[in-house]
Amino acid sequence: MIALTIPDAAEMEALGARLAPLLRAGDLVLLNGELGAGKTTLARGLGAALGARGAVTSPTFVLAREHPTASWVPLVHVDAYRLATGRELDDLDLDYEHGIVVVEWGAGKLDGVSDSWLSIDIVRPAGADAAALADPAELELDEPRGVTITGHGPRAIELEALLAAAE
Ligand SMILES: Nc1ncnc2c1ncn2[C@@H]1O[C@H](COP(=O)(O)OP(=O)(O)OP(=O)(O)O)[C@@H](O)[C@H]1O
Ligand SMILES: [Mg+2]
Repeated sequence: MIALTIPDAAEMEALGARLAPLLRAGDLVLLNGELGAGKTTLARGLGAALGARGAVTSPTFVLAREHPTASWVPLVHVDAYRLATGRELDDLDLDYEHGIVVVEWGAGKLDGVSDSWLSIDIVRPAGADAAALADPAELELDEPRGVTITGHGPRAIELEALLAAAE
């Protein structure tokens, strides 16, 4: 397990950018953390480093978006917030083999999808702050996040080691 403190949004994007060159087709990354934790911010940095076309955002109605990148491997960005079960996620028929797949809110919903995934857990040390969540402007203020990165399965354990060496 890698444990990091990420002081601000720019550093969260930079973490995504450090992970990007280590990823290859078939890799699966789960981004876990409460609303506003910084999952999409990390995905945005990762997408930028891959040369992803189109904005990497948290779309309200789109569950998954495939971004062509500078290489032949697309970035598949999934927001599973509205999906209750792995079955529903499975119904999206995502191409896990040929893309780099990054899933927000996927914890516990990916059983059987892959035998390897990298979990990135992001927490706001202050915990869920209802006042901040009610006021988006306050949420945008930079504030440190605790990030833990854990590889599950052979490929993701290798990824974790590569990232630790790159830190
Ligand atoms: N240390 C930090 N790391 C990441 N984001 C931060 C940090 N400090 C402040 N922020 C801000 O917190 C917000 C994180 O929003 P983001 O959309 O990335 O969260 P999310 O986890 O994807 O939320 P959701 O569950 O709603 O999709 C951004 O406005 C970002 O600027
Ligand atoms: Mg998001």
